[in-house]
Amino acid sequence: MAILIAADLSADEWASWWPALQAALPDEQLVRDRAQVPAGQIDIALVANPKGGELQGLPGLALIQSLWAGVEGLLADPTVPADVPLARMVDPAMNEAMAQTALWAVLGLHRRFFSYAVQQQARQWRQRAQWRADEVPVAVLGLGHMGRAVAQRLALNGYPVRGWSRSQAEVDGVVALAGEAALAHVLSTARVVINLLPLTPATRAFFNADRFAQMLRGASLVNLARGAHVVEADLLAALDSGRLGHAVLDVFGTEPLPASHAFWGHPQITVLPHVAALTDPRSAAPVVAQNIRALRQGRPLEHLVDRSRGY
Ligand code: NAP
Ligand code: GLV
Repeated sequence: MAILIAADLSADEWASWWPALQAALPDEQLVRDRAQVPAGQIDIALVANPKGGELQGLPGLALIQSLWAGVEGLLADPTVPADVPLARMVDPAMNEAMAQTALWAVLGLHRRFFSYAVQQQARQWRQRAQWRADEVPVAVLGLGHMGRAVAQRLALNGYPVRGWSRSQAEVDGVVALAGEAALAHVLSTARVVINLLPLTPATRAFFNADRFAQMLRGASLVNLARGAHVVEADLLAALDSGRLGHAVLDVFGTEPLPASHAFWGHPQITVLPHVAALTDPRSAAPVVAQNIRALRQGRPLEHLVDRSRGY
């Protein structure tokens, strides 16, 4: 049997993925082009933004393994076979990277380092009030693999952290709440709200004018999940009116963020180019290999997507 890598990768990305996958899967036949082997021989597809239709007509396909954590694109593609198990990327190294990004963002907001960066542009010498970490409550929306790592890292750094998820979670050092009723409380008590929800029909456009109105006046939003969680026009209006103080955005409705976009030059917005937690082939390839070995040995697959929930 053969493993198809159906991925829209740059030459540099291939140069790191290919040797990492070969090293992690020394006994497997890896192909980058499905024409290299008869269609019936492909039983696993490793995917990252596959071309539409690339996974059709593979009668032996038994596993689709995403190389990315977010799978909303695969779920929205009607040519991705719906009856084949779909696993997503869950890599502890990415959780660690996400925790670092969130800590940087919260420190930057808490200690006003983003405001000082704007002041520097204007050669302005102005000292702002210095708060303690325990005076800066943080909300983490989504307590999955990334959200948990983020919530714990922030709690360890002295921030009072409330986490929110669909079902009740338990996270050391964090007040975990669940369900719609708790959401207003979580939003209305945080100086910084961090989004780590998956993008699903229930969470698309989650951060809109109504939700911003529930947040503390002057609070900040950190979006590290998906751009479509945020209604961009509502965010700009909330920042311009002072309802929100600042936004740190790693993800956008259109990526790359167009050069003409209002976010680039906005003094209350910090833009990152979708780098909060990059997939690192050195740690991700062994994760992929583990699931492939599970399939080969008839053991349960890990990190399967529940298509009915959308994550
Ligand atoms: P995950 O493990 O699937 O966790 C999702 C969490 O969100 C779970 O706690 C889940 O609750 C909760 N949730 C889902 N739908 C909800 C709803 N309608 N209401 C309330 N809570 C809900 O996801 P993850 O791996 O942590 O990834 C989090 C986000 O980060 C995703 O959007 C992913 O695409 C994004 N991401 C971004 C980057 C980057 O570089 N910016 C990198 C990787 C991932 P339950 O536990 O109750 O199911
Ligand atoms: C990155 O955003 C991912 O989904 O892996």
